Order: sequence, then C-alpha cells, then structure tokens
Amino acid sequence: MKRVSTVAALRRELGKLRKNGKTVGLVPTMGALHEGHLTLVRKARAKCDVVVVSVFVNPLQFGPNEDFASYPRRLARDAALLKGCGVDLLFAPTAETFYEPDHQTMIVSPKVQSMYCGQYRPGHFSGALTVVAKLFFAAQPDFAFFGKKDWQQAWLIEKMTRDLNWPIRIVKVPTVRGKDGLALSSRNEYLSEAERAGAPAIRAALVALEKSFRAGERRVALLKRNAERTIEKAGGKIQYLEIASCRTLMPLKALDEEAVVLVAAFFGKTRLIDNIELKNRR
Ligand code: PAF
Repeated sequence: MKRVSTVAALRRELGKLRKNGKTVGLVPTMGALHEGHLTLVRKARAKCDVVVVSVFVNPLQFGPNEDFASYPRRLARDAALLKGCGVDLLFAPTAETFYEPDHQTMIVSPKVQSMYCGQYRPGHFSGALTVVAKLFFAAQPDFAFFGKKDWQQAWLIEKMTRDLNWPIRIVKVPTVRGKDGLALSSRNEYLSEAERAGAPAIRAALVALEKSFRAGERRVALLKRNAERTIEKAGGKIQYLEIASCRTLMPLKALDEEAVVLVAAFFGKTRLIDNIELKNRR
C-alpha cells in the first residue's frame, strides 16, 4: 500500500494504477477506523480493481462547539488496518495541503442539508459535501462507498453526484453493529459505562418500530412516540426522531412510500445517530 498526502501525488499514483480500464473505488473516512469502515473497504476491495482510502478529519464539517480538536486521530494504526485489507493507496492529507489557506467555495444542498442532523449542526453537511466533492475530483473514482449509518449524508452525496452528473456510483453499505445492536461509531468511545449500557435502546426502539410497521401500524405519531419512549427510558435524550421519504427525505405524514426513520439522541454528552428503513412489502 502506498501512502500519499498531496492531491498531486494521489493523481500521479492513480494515473499508474488506472491503466487498461481498471476501476477505482474510493472510501472516504475521517480515520479512527473500526469494523464499520473496514466493511466499506472490503466491499470496495471486492468490487473494484484499485482501492483508495482517504483519512482526513475535515475541519469544515465541525461546528465551533464540536469535537474537532478531540476527534480521535490514529493514522499509524489506521494505515496498518488498511494494509491488512489490501488497500492500494492511502490518501492522508493535512488541512494545510488539502485546503487553500483562504478556502471559500462550498457545496450547498439548501433544502435537506438544514434538516434533521443539519438543523442541529449548521454547516456540517455543506462541509462534508465540499470535502467529498474535493475527494471525488482528486481521485475521480468509478465507485465511492458510504455507510448507511449516516443515512442523510449518503442521501446528500448521492443527490450531489446525480445533480452534477458525475459518473460515480455511490454504494451505500449497511450499518455494522455491536452484538447488542449499537451502531459502530468512532464517537462510541466517548460513552461512560452506564451510557454505553443504555445506548443499544436506540436500535431496540427502531427495530420495535419497524416490527410494528410490518404488523400493519401506520399511525406515524404513535410509531414515533413509542420509539421515543423506549430511548428515553434507557436514559437517552432525543434530539430528533422523524420518519422521512427515502426518495425526497421530506418528513412523511402518511406511510405510503418507502420510508426511513432517522434518529439522533444524546447519551450523556455523546450524540448518537441511527436509522431503519421501512419498506412496504406485499
Ligand atoms: O462520514 C464521514 O466519516 C465523513 O463525513 C466523510 C464522508 C469522510 C467526509 O469527511
């Protein structure tokens, strides 16, 4: 595995690897890799001839009161894990080499970027879309891999790619979970023992909601309220819990199309997100 830290070096190395119509898969990450990330990497390895992984804690997507400074950074460990997965190229730039000192241009997706997570993290999705766009231009992948845990982010990235006619296929990979159902996240390590014990209630609430939906329950308010109660009983503080259209991501009043339940809840100071899809099966 080669490791590069500038866009010029990335393009040079990819130029050599891309010969004879070889397909390139990109897995953008912020490092502190866990099994969730490695699952994306293995999917990319299985689907593409050349696999590039980026590790970059993107300052543009953190708010002023968020955890940019304390976000875990473990590049040596990440590099060893990626090598073990058969990655061809690791792109690990610094903010100084990746961004112009007076970076100004931003990607905005005005409607959906300020809903759900975006309502509570102003600027977050614009920052994430901008760095993903930069990574797409730098690596020019055929496929890019994102986890479904960040459902809203994956939706926005897919929409950006379609809106701008970029020839990149977005592959959305199911969430990897602990045995107790908690979605893997680099932020889980912030949880105290008691908070960690309560946090699987998020998944339990979503699974119960989906079961109730499959049994025929269609009252949106009731489905939401029951899920909120389960999370609150376990010590969680709901930030939002919404049922949205998979197609438009707008909140639904009637469950007459494919939907996704999106939730963010605090356990202590740690904000966790999760989701579950609701599909009308005949
Ligand atoms: O999901 C993440 O880890 C980040 O938002 C991403 C896509 C790597 C962009 O910084």
